[in-house]
Amino acid sequence: MAHTSYGDEGFSRYLRSAFSRHLGHDPEDFDKPVIGICNTSSEVNRCHSHLGPMIEAIKRGVTAAGGTALEFPVISLGEMFISPTTMLYRNLAAMDAEEMIRAQPIDGVVLIGGCDKMTPALLMGAASADKPAIMFTGGPMSNGEHKGQTLGACTDCRFFWQEYKAGTISDEELSEINAKLAPTAGHCMVMGSASTMAACSEALGMMLPGGAAIPAVLNERLSHAQQTGKAIVELVRNGTKPSDIMTRGAFENAIRVLMAIGGSTNAVIHLIAIARRLGIDIKLDDFHALSATTPFLANLRPAGKYQLQDFHYAGGVPALMREMSSLLHLEERSVSGKTIGENIADAKTDDAYRDIIRPFGDPLYRDGGITVLKGNLAPDGAIIKSKAATEGLLRHRGKAVVFRSLEDMETRINDPQLEVTPDSVLVMQNAGPVGAPGMPEAGMIPIPRKLLQAGVRDMVRLSDARMSGTAFGTVVLHVAPEAAVGGPLALVRDGDEIELDAYAGTLTLHVPEEELQRRRAEWTPPKIADRGYTRLYQKRVMQADKGCDFDFL
Ligand code: FES
Repeated sequence: MAHTSYGDEGFSRYLRSAFSRHLGHDPEDFDKPVIGICNTSSEVNRCHSHLGPMIEAIKRGVTAAGGTALEFPVISLGEMFISPTTMLYRNLAAMDAEEMIRAQPIDGVVLIGGCDKMTPALLMGAASADKPAIMFTGGPMSNGEHKGQTLGACTDCRFFWQEYKAGTISDEELSEINAKLAPTAGHCMVMGSASTMAACSEALGMMLPGGAAIPAVLNERLSHAQQTGKAIVELVRNGTKPSDIMTRGAFENAIRVLMAIGGSTNAVIHLIAIARRLGIDIKLDDFHALSATTPFLANLRPAGKYQLQDFHYAGGVPALMREMSSLLHLEERSVSGKTIGENIADAKTDDAYRDIIRPFGDPLYRDGGITVLKGNLAPDGAIIKSKAATEGLLRHRGKAVVFRSLEDMETRINDPQLEVTPDSVLVMQNAGPVGAPGMPEAGMIPIPRKLLQAGVRDMVRLSDARMSGTAFGTVVLHVAPEAAVGGPLALVRDGDEIELDAYAGTLTLHVPEEELQRRRAEWTPPKIADRGYTRLYQKRVMQADKGCDFDFL
């Protein structure tokens, strides 16, 4: 364990012992494995507002296993509360976690994730610090319900808002639904980014089996918390570090699970970023290859029908991984002390839940939920959640309607004079990591009101932004390089022909190269922030295909 530097290690120990008595600890307690509990509880992050009893349960587990638990705070990011977007601060949270794990007198750490960016930020930080670590998440909300129909945050937030704008539901009903959309503690309960990253943590081997899907309010989550506390003490005793668990094979397992659950497109960025912290180079092409050979098995919203509590009752991630075990690296290690193969050996899905986790031989779709696109409009790649898109639009050629920024789009999208048809391709520029900044989840560009009212519910949309894992539609995302660094997206003009072919994995701007060169000569980069963290972010963030981490991390 490291000590504060006074140039005299004995004095450092003496001083720490004196100051720790206030916490009720005897000096001998610090001869046991000291476990930091990275507390992300916050009232400004509603998805982490219920963690208190879970942290107590983790501590009980640590104590029962012979360790000493010490809570410490790190940045807590709540999707609906951070402006302009949590992604701007994911790297800051990762730096906070890394430095505190490294600097504090702890031998191992329990990472407490939940809301979208927290799980990847903590895994990034823990990967760099490389002290024994285990991931725990606060669990998904239970299902909401309205008029006999299941409600899910935030797929239905978007669905009913769109219907409201189309004029099909009233103010009163919209308000009634609002009260039921997020009915319990926990994170979003569809397979959005939070649930996806929890599932990926399990697949990586960084979370105890079954932990991803246990609803926040079930007793089982407290039991899982206590087991997590016990497990981290063993990891410290065995000296098992994140780099021992998160290997290339573990990332391949996580990517396959991502595809089998039709998970969030955000996970592509996060998994690349976590892997790069460990020197593992995962490329978009890896996602493409693994998606093509992984069946889509979990029938979960927004791409499917059910939600996380249903997935839990069907056996959760262990049962899913057992179903697809022929595709996995079963010899990979995990925080349980067992291999992935051993963790899932007894997992199964009862016949009653067979529509939720489909048999390997009878999948929802033959391939995965995310498609990688390349072409002259996205030389370094783009992605589309093809299974949450309209099938008939996955091969589409249309004329561009271009918005220069998020603000420009908001100002003009509902203008009755906007020249747009259902066949248009809505293009948004300067909404990427540098451009926005922070790559907000604005990629699901709203359908223009006049088209909504005419019955249109989906169009091809394209940007360098991200999209919430709970969102849906024919939405091309993460175009790289982004417009703000001079990517070809910056050169698109109204009326240009754009062709999407998700089956072929291509994205093409049908403008002659000479004309693109002419436009490029006229292009000037947008101004970046004058000072502070945002300036650091804009100067040092890498593009989406590199995980949007800072180049110096
Ligand atoms: Fe926190 Fe959806 S708002 S997970």
